[in-house]
Amino acid sequence: MDGRDLVRSVKAFGSARGRLALRVALRRRRTDAAQQVPRGPERARVPGVMTGVEHRPGGGVLRFARSELLVRVAVGGAVFWGWDGAEPTPSYALADGCPDADPRAVLEPDKDGGWRVVSERVTVRVSRHGSVEILTPGGLRIRRELPPRWWEPVSGGAARWVQRAEVPSDARFFGLGGRASGPRLRDGTYRLWNTDPRGGFGPGDDPLYITMPVQLVVADSGTHLAFYDNTRDGLVVLAEGDEGAGSGHDRHGSSRVGMDGGPLRCWVVAGTPARVLLGWTALTGRPALPPSWALGPQHARWGFGSAREVRRVVAGYREHGLPLTALHLDIDHYDRHQVFTVDRERFPGLPGLAEELRRGGVRLVSIVDPAVKAEPGNRVYEAGLAADVFVRDARGGTARGLVWPGECVYPDFTAPRARAWWGGLYEERLAQGFAGFWHDMNEPASIVPFGDPTLPLSSRHDLEGRGGDHREAHNVYGLGMARAGYEGLRTLLPGERPFLFSRSGWAGMQRYGGAWSGDVTTGWPGLRASLSLVLGLGLCGVPYSGPDVGGFDGSPSPELYLRWLQLAAFLPLLRTHSAISAGRREPWEFGAETLEHARGALLERQRLHPYFVTLAHLSRLTGAPYVRPVWWSSPGDRALRDCEDAFLLGDGLLVAPVLGPGTDRRTVRLPRGRWYDTATGVAHEGPGQVVLDAPIGRVPVLARAGSVIPVRGDDGGLELEVWAPAAGRTGGGVLVRDTGDGWEEPEVERYTTALEDGRVVVGRVVADGSVEPGCPVRVRGAGV
Ligand code: GLC
Repeated sequence: MDGRDLVRSVKAFGSARGRLALRVALRRRRTDAAQQVPRGPERARVPGVMTGVEHRPGGGVLRFARSELLVRVAVGGAVFWGWDGAEPTPSYALADGCPDADPRAVLEPDKDGGWRVVSERVTVRVSRHGSVEILTPGGLRIRRELPPRWWEPVSGGAARWVQRAEVPSDARFFGLGGRASGPRLRDGTYRLWNTDPRGGFGPGDDPLYITMPVQLVVADSGTHLAFYDNTRDGLVVLAEGDEGAGSGHDRHGSSRVGMDGGPLRCWVVAGTPARVLLGWTALTGRPALPPSWALGPQHARWGFGSAREVRRVVAGYREHGLPLTALHLDIDHYDRHQVFTVDRERFPGLPGLAEELRRGGVRLVSIVDPAVKAEPGNRVYEAGLAADVFVRDARGGTARGLVWPGECVYPDFTAPRARAWWGGLYEERLAQGFAGFWHDMNEPASIVPFGDPTLPLSSRHDLEGRGGDHREAHNVYGLGMARAGYEGLRTLLPGERPFLFSRSGWAGMQRYGGAWSGDVTTGWPGLRASLSLVLGLGLCGVPYSGPDVGGFDGSPSPELYLRWLQLAAFLPLLRTHSAISAGRREPWEFGAETLEHARGALLERQRLHPYFVTLAHLSRLTGAPYVRPVWWSSPGDRALRDCEDAFLLGDGLLVAPVLGPGTDRRTVRLPRGRWYDTATGVAHEGPGQVVLDAPIGRVPVLARAGSVIPVRGDDGGLELEVWAPAAGRTGGGVLVRDTGDGWEEPEVERYTTALEDGRVVVGRVVADGSVEPGCPVRVRGAGV
């Protein structure tokens, strides 16, 4: 036991609480120890040589001396392979089960006794000994899985497995969920186990709340995503390759994935980055579309304490001319921290407060913790017991953990009946006037002073009727909670798009909502980690996320606070938040100069609101994240692959935030083409590097020549900001209008831009040609 942890827990909770924490932690350790069967001696196994094949739609089954491999190319080009009888389903990640097999993809003999499946987008080649290669249609190898290795207990039981893969020597790894040390994942070991880091985290903390066995790999030969569909604890060891400095001794990059059981199966999606995300979200579901107000500035804190304080903060935004679209209530508005309750003394008449705020354009968002206080008289606890929806321990009792209200039980979100029951509980929240939901503590977390801060591994889960333990259910707990909330809200309020975002989750969570950073530490490293998380999650298919502006703990300096806000103004979720013990986060708490610049950042966000609405729709339709790495449209540019301090916002903008102190200029690496500094209108030609002013009042933002950015004009109406194409070039962009928070399907309007006789011409593409845009156009960057 770490003595510091214990001291911390005793201090934090008072001694009675500390003793309870200790008891829960000890019980967790005892329970798991009693259930642990030593693995005993193990035997290694490899597939051996190929003995035969059987044709199946989209590929076939390849039999080896000691295993068999199913290869199947799906319609749309995603490749599935699975060993030892692993099929694509059941899967928590897939949105609609397994997609149909591509009827044109057939298994045929290859050289050296191997077999291959040739399809439109990739060729899959399987060697006599069971290596699986993925090649581009042009024959370039983008990934090679070596024959796997299993370790099986001699006495029987689940096999551990290790799967090694090689990627090109110039490849870069991204993804694995939300990682603080990225976005580029450097050589190292990354654990796949959703974890509450307990307190403010920075770039050195790993794993965090959202882990996913999803690798996004970018190399000269192509981009691909590999997803090892297994929910268990695992380790991924990544090593970048080495180009051998022209000596001809290139060393390929490598990935080693090891898991303590569960299926060894993988999906690979290859193509351009845009194609990869399209294919990945076709498999795992397109991102839920947030309501329009969730794309505006939001304010949260743990410890508003009362309705009066809420009114004071909202009034402060109004009085200072700061836009605000949502305010979030943390656990302190609950009755003694119990979920689905309200402290009626501090928050009397909550529905009235919600209505009042709503009239002023501010929605209320509620935190929702999954853990339910295990106390007779607690309505949710008693109803849950009656409905038999809580996770059980290995002896058949309810599994227990410690969360804010005290000793708690946990709904089993892997049980359809528990999800349906939980979803119904949001009725109480809606009746209180809440319009959005913030899912927290769903790794699931248990605040214990030592050991893994979650449920005992031996806890029993339904797993959709299959039954299993926490080893298998842990990583999909947050995903199941998101599903329960989303489905409940769809039933309760069918006319409105649900808004929820979550601290934990897994592959496919975008179907139900977004994510946020969790307790990112206050400090410059925390700011950097914030960007890493958003970029990484976006590449795993989760486009809507953002950090706690200013950091969760402590008190940011005015400079740090402002730089954080300036970054988040360009991220999908723009929300300040902080711990109960942390300093203030209202923009007016940092002095007049900071307030003025904060207002600038928030107003710019509001000006860009139509662009964010457009990007949200494009995400829903294509899976492309709003926030993309700068290599997104030029993955072949190696310098861009290593650039981690800037990002593209949609196709049109390149944002270069300030991530360190004392900066008033910074280097910005440009993708190819012409880019305008939006502050000065000066044009810069990429690819290359430029040094731009980054005074305290703003961060560099560049616009791609030819782009069309939907913005809010000075009169509040929609306007198209068009950046002049370079001579001899054309450009274009997309507009999706805000049709409110229901389900109306808006049209995707396409625009083209051209330079004709020195004049910028903008046209809206319609079925039989082009017409004048239906809204005002403001041309910028012309005459350069
Ligand atoms: C967790 C959350 C944080 C929240 C706190 C209290 O630490 O990550 O955002 O404020 O719990 O609910």
